[in-house]
Amino acid sequence: MKKITLSVIPGDGVGKEIMPHALRVLDAVAEVHGGLTFEKVEYPWSCEYYLEHGEMMPEDGLVQLTESDAVFLGAVGNPQLVPDHVSLWGLLIAIRRGFQQSLNIRHAKQIRGIDPPIKHANQFDLLVVRENSEGEYSEVGGRIHQGDDEVVVQNAIFTKKATKRAIDYAFQLAATRGKRVTSATKSNGIVFSMPFWDNVFQEVGKQYPDIEQQSVHIDALTAFLVTKPAEFDVIVASNLFGDILTDVSAAIMGSIGIGPAANLNVEGTYPSMFEPVHGSAPDIVGKGMANPIGQIWTGKMMLDHFGEEELGKTLLDIVEDVTEAGIKTPDIGGRATTGEVADAIIERVKSLT
Ligand code: NAD
Ligand code: IPM
Ligand code: MN
Repeated sequence: MKKITLSVIPGDGVGKEIMPHALRVLDAVAEVHGGLTFEKVEYPWSCEYYLEHGEMMPEDGLVQLTESDAVFLGAVGNPQLVPDHVSLWGLLIAIRRGFQQSLNIRHAKQIRGIDPPIKHANQFDLLVVRENSEGEYSEVGGRIHQGDDEVVVQNAIFTKKATKRAIDYAFQLAATRGKRVTSATKSNGIVFSMPFWDNVFQEVGKQYPDIEQQSVHIDALTAFLVTKPAEFDVIVASNLFGDILTDVSAAIMGSIGIGPAANLNVEGTYPSMFEPVHGSAPDIVGKGMANPIGQIWTGKMMLDHFGEEELGKTLLDIVEDVTEAGIKTPDIGGRATTGEVADAIIERVKSLT
């Protein structure tokens, strides 16, 4: 029996609503597999936890999570209770940094039964490799002066090691897929980091002569993702550019609520973390209408990560069968609840035996 131990952090908002259903789906999948179990430890770390304890997770939180094979996270953030930079840096980003999850891989493709906002003649299927440890998300900076003279400095840190790691990973992924890498740049406007990024892209790219390679400015690239997504295979981007591109790549599938993500510790020293692209969606919380597909597809990425690609593929096929059958939450044009979508997936998973 293969046992995968999971640290489960439902988090806030729709994260808490979706997580129990996503776990039901994972358990059903494991049951059908026959030789797989998920052993779960759930942590209540969230903005409510913060109000009670003054911190998003205990001081030894990362030590507790180290025990597991992976972290499965819902979403973090309730800006009405806790400022976002406090809650996110106290939990989500603390885990990404603490566990050196230096790459964030996000998948987007057309899903059967979901009408994309813009219909294209060609199917798209793309991966974004987002640098996940530095770049625009740096803690280096500060405030100078007060009042009308206030000046704020926010630095962006780009190291050769991290830049190379992200770009090299993108080329390796492309070699197994469509053999095309697009690098998101902005070297026309950002004079230090982006020319540096482009140089590293060219340097690494030389080792992959069989892979088509291009640099596209982030503004144009964002537009091209909307107008011609089928032209992309693997996109590699800095932390902030990758963040923005992946809300767009989820949206062109039909909803932010369906995008999956894997925060990878490539060295295997620490657990990787699997969490959907979307956030806690305060605007729809408590209505039972949160789309569980982002979390479930994220579960599929986790199955892939643990060598269960076949099972992962089956799960995504079943998700598409369910959307094709019209069992969908309102964000993608249906009337089903979070639980009804999960039930329909589980029913089909169970019928495999
Ligand atoms: P969001 O992703 O939560 O919501 C953006 C829009 O997408 C909203 O209209 C929302 O209703 C919709 N949406 C999101 N998930 C959905 C789902 N599963 N089903 C249907 N619709 C869905 O982004 P936001 O509003 O900018 O952020 C809300 C909070 O979440 C903030 O506190 C933010 O910092 C946090 N956040 C957390 C994460 C994370 O934990 N990984 C990611 C993004 C945002
Ligand atoms: C994401 C989120 C986070 C990010 C926020 C909530 C800090 O938007 O995971 O995409 O920017 O990385
Ligand atoms: Mn984001």
